[in-house]
Amino acid sequence: MFEHVQPYAGDPIFALVDAFNADPRPGKVNLSIGIYFDEQGRLPVLDSVRRAEALLLEAGGAKPYLPMEGDASCRREVQALLFGRDHAALRQGRVATIQTVGSSGGLRVGADFLKAWFPSSAVWMSDPTWDNHRSMFEACGFAVHGYPYYDAATGGVAFDRMKAALEGLPARSIVLLHACCHNPTGVDLTRAQWDQLIPVLAQRGLIAYLDLAYQGFGEGIDEDAYAVRALANAGLAFFVANSFSKSMSVYGERCGALSAVCPSAAEAALVLGQLKFTVRRNYSSPPLHAAGIVARVLGDAALRSQWEGEVAQMRERILAMRRALHAALTRKLPGRRFEYFLTQRGMFSYTGLTPAQVDELRERHAVYLIRSGRMCIAGLNSRNVATVAEAIAAVLA
Ligand code: LMR
Repeated sequence: MFEHVQPYAGDPIFALVDAFNADPRPGKVNLSIGIYFDEQGRLPVLDSVRRAEALLLEAGGAKPYLPMEGDASCRREVQALLFGRDHAALRQGRVATIQTVGSSGGLRVGADFLKAWFPSSAVWMSDPTWDNHRSMFEACGFAVHGYPYYDAATGGVAFDRMKAALEGLPARSIVLLHACCHNPTGVDLTRAQWDQLIPVLAQRGLIAYLDLAYQGFGEGIDEDAYAVRALANAGLAFFVANSFSKSMSVYGERCGALSAVCPSAAEAALVLGQLKFTVRRNYSSPPLHAAGIVARVLGDAALRSQWEGEVAQMRERILAMRRALHAALTRKLPGRRFEYFLTQRGMFSYTGLTPAQVDELRERHAVYLIRSGRMCIAGLNSRNVATVAEAIAAVLA
C-alpha cells in the first residue's frame, strides 16, 4: 500500500537535534536549533510563566474548545504588544488577529489565505532565510523566489540590491520580511532602512508578510516591534506572524498569533472570517493552555513587568556570550575579524563557516551548528564558550 511513499530526508534543523541527543560525548555543545538555554545550559521556565500557570491551575475550570480565532483576551493582548495599546489601526478595528499554533501555524494559515485570495502572486524571501519558510510557502502552492539580503563581503545587509529587487516586483507580490533578529544571519535592517523600504512596499502595491519570532531578543520588546508599527503607521495592508516560543520559553505550548492589518474595519472582518475558515479546515481551533499563558503574562501588570525583566535578562545574557566568544576568538586568531558576533542581533550569528567546517566541528569537536554556518549564540554559556572558541579556531586554522 505505501511502497511508493518517498522517504523523508529529514528537517535540516530538527535532524541535528536528534543527532545531538544521540551523541554520547560528554562535552557536546548544541548551537543548532533556535532555543534559548540559560547559563546552566538548561531550558528555563520563566517565573512569570510559572506564576501564570499556577493561577490557571488554581482557577480550575472546564476545558472547552476555543473559538476558531482563539481566545479573545489573548488576541487583545497580542495586538497591544505588537502595535502599542492605543494604535489607531486597533482603534479603527482594522487589525484581524487570530491566536495560532505557534507562529509557524500563523505563517501557514496566512500563506493558505494568501494563496486562496491572491492565487497568481509569487512569494519573495530574503537570501538566505529560515529553511522552513520556503518549504511552508511552497507547500501552499506558491512559487518562491529570493531577494538579495545578506552581503558576505561586508557582513551587513545588501540594502541597495534588496531595495532595487523589491522595486522591480509586480504588484501584489508577497514579500516575507524578518521584523527583527533575522534568522539565520542575525543581520537586521536599521530603522532608517525600514523607513526607506516602506514607500517601496506602498508604491509597488506589495503585500508585506512580517515574521516576528524573536521579539525582545534584539533591542527590546517595543524596539523590536518597530517594523510592525512603522508599516501600520504608513497605512500599509500587511500580515505579521508572531511567536512567544522564545520570548516566554514556551516552545512546546505553541503560543503564537497571526495579524492582518487591513485598509478598513469592513475588510478586516472579511479577512478574519476567511482566516477562521482556514483554521477550521486545518486544526479547528488553537490550544487553550497557550491562550491562558499569553493572556495572563501580558494582561496582569505584575506578571507583565516580571516577564519584561526576564526577557531583558535573556537578551543581555546572549549579548554577554557574543562578547565572550568574540574576545576568545580574537585572542586565538588575532589576524581574523570576528566583529560580526558583536553587531549581529538575536539568537543567531552567521559565522561564514563552510558546510565542511561545520561537519568537522560536529564530528571532531562535538559542537553542533546548522550546516549553513548559523550558530545559536543562546546555546553558549560561560562553561562552554572557551571550548567552542577553541574548536572554531582549530577548524579555521
Ligand atoms: C530555528 O530556526 O532553529 C527555530 O526557529 C526552530 C525551528 O522551528 O526551526
